[in-house]
Amino acid sequence: PVLVVDFGAQYAQLIARRVREAQVYSEIVPHTMPVAQMLAKDPAAIVLSGGPASVYEPGAPTLDPALFETGVPTFGICYGFQAMVQAMGGEVAHTGSREYGGTPLTALPERSVLFTGLPERQDVWMSHGDSVVAAPPGATVTASSERTPVAAFEDPERRIAGVQFHPEVAHTPYGQRLLTRFLRDIAGIAPTWTAAGIIDEQVAAIRQQVGDGQVICGLSGGVDSAVAAALVHRAIGDQLTCVFVDHGLLRAGEAEQVEKDYVAATGIRLHVVEAADTFLSALAGVSDPEQKRKIIGREFIRSFEGAARELAAERHIEFLVQGTLYPDVVESGGGSGTANIKSHHNVGGLPDDLAFQLVEPLRTLFKDEVRRLGVELGLPEPMVWRHPFPGPGLAIRIIGEVTPQRLEVLRAADRIAREELTVSGLDRSVWQFPVVLLADVRSVGVQGDGRSYGHPVVLRPVSSEDAMTADWSRLPYEVIAKISTRITNEVPEVNRVALDVTSKPPGTIEWE
Ligand code: XMP
Repeated sequence: PVLVVDFGAQYAQLIARRVREAQVYSEIVPHTMPVAQMLAKDPAAIVLSGGPASVYEPGAPTLDPALFETGVPTFGICYGFQAMVQAMGGEVAHTGSREYGGTPLTALPERSVLFTGLPERQDVWMSHGDSVVAAPPGATVTASSERTPVAAFEDPERRIAGVQFHPEVAHTPYGQRLLTRFLRDIAGIAPTWTAAGIIDEQVAAIRQQVGDGQVICGLSGGVDSAVAAALVHRAIGDQLTCVFVDHGLLRAGEAEQVEKDYVAATGIRLHVVEAADTFLSALAGVSDPEQKRKIIGREFIRSFEGAARELAAERHIEFLVQGTLYPDVVESGGGSGTANIKSHHNVGGLPDDLAFQLVEPLRTLFKDEVRRLGVELGLPEPMVWRHPFPGPGLAIRIIGEVTPQRLEVLRAADRIAREELTVSGLDRSVWQFPVVLLADVRSVGVQGDGRSYGHPVVLRPVSSEDAMTADWSRLPYEVIAKISTRITNEVPEVNRVALDVTSKPPGTIEWE
């Protein structure tokens, strides 16, 4: 792998994804990992991330200079770039001049591998206080900015390079090209990390782990569990049984998508638990968000355990598939070892003492990779590109008590919003588009010839990379207008449509 050494930046995950976009497998490791342990992973290259610290601060994370004796190709970014310079005999100065944000860069393409064929003047994203004033001996300075004499250096012979700016962010337009250049032309790594390759590797690993054991997988209707199940099915076929709990809190058409389209596309054996009545009676009279979540979690476990008991009559289940993704693993401080991470999150709340071994075929992958895998596995596009949807479903999008009638109202409004988004071709530029019913709020309107006294719905389209932060989507006014007109015309209980223009933070994506 390419090791992305995390100096405490939020950027490490982004860097790891960009490396993979260059079709090279990457893993994130903490900067505290001893060099010997890094080498044990047989790294094809090392990328040092940015970090919040100044190299001059007491206690600033440092690099073991032994790293540069190993001959492993190394690329430093921002703080990682400065740490590299300092460890290799260059000079970092406390110049007191900061650069933050979009900054014009002057590159020297003729002297450079990284910048070959790229414009001399380009914009890059900077975020630093200290500056490099002298590159390590033997390295060539290949870019500078007004305040930073050494904004990039390269030494192709020693296979090292670094940049002061952030190539991983979208604000550095040539960033991906630069990173790819390093990986291909300086580190000499072949681009082999492809969906087909990942599938082959995982299929072999799953067969090895499971042998001829029986496996169960909870399907939520979401992308992750759908892809995980399809992958496991590719590996072990009929040894897999999927369980789908229809809790009655899904959106229009979703249960059918799982029960018909998914089964048709994959041929997976599906065990459906019809649990809508159970969930709705458990939720009756409850409007507190946390209480709703707890009840749903509890009912989910009961349904799932019930299904496992029923299946036990025919087959002894030893393994449980989970759609855990790489960000969950990294955030839990994992990345290596066998820690059982967030086992609750993905299947909606399974107890710790569940008597299954976990199969987690997606635990090295990011969401966009999971989607590509889904396509490669032949899953239907609408399933692969489906927006994330919370486990508790529409229950946390009805502000107030959840009733069958309110669910119908919200389903109707939500269906219209999704239809119009799809028609406008914007599905993929929006991360998620919750529609929220303010069931306890009423407002006066005039509909037809008379006064109406209905409920508002709130449109909450957001853009995001990972749902940790988000911004409200600037949907075209015509699209919003169309959705508003259709909802108020077609859903009689709704007479007002509002748009949520709050970023996350401070808002969350969901309202509850
Ligand atoms: P928030 O509302 O916290 O949501 O900004 C972040 C992302 O998580 C989803 N979400 C959930 N997903 N079970 C889930 O599987 C849950 O209980 C849950 N709550 C929120 C939300 O839709 C968004 O994608």
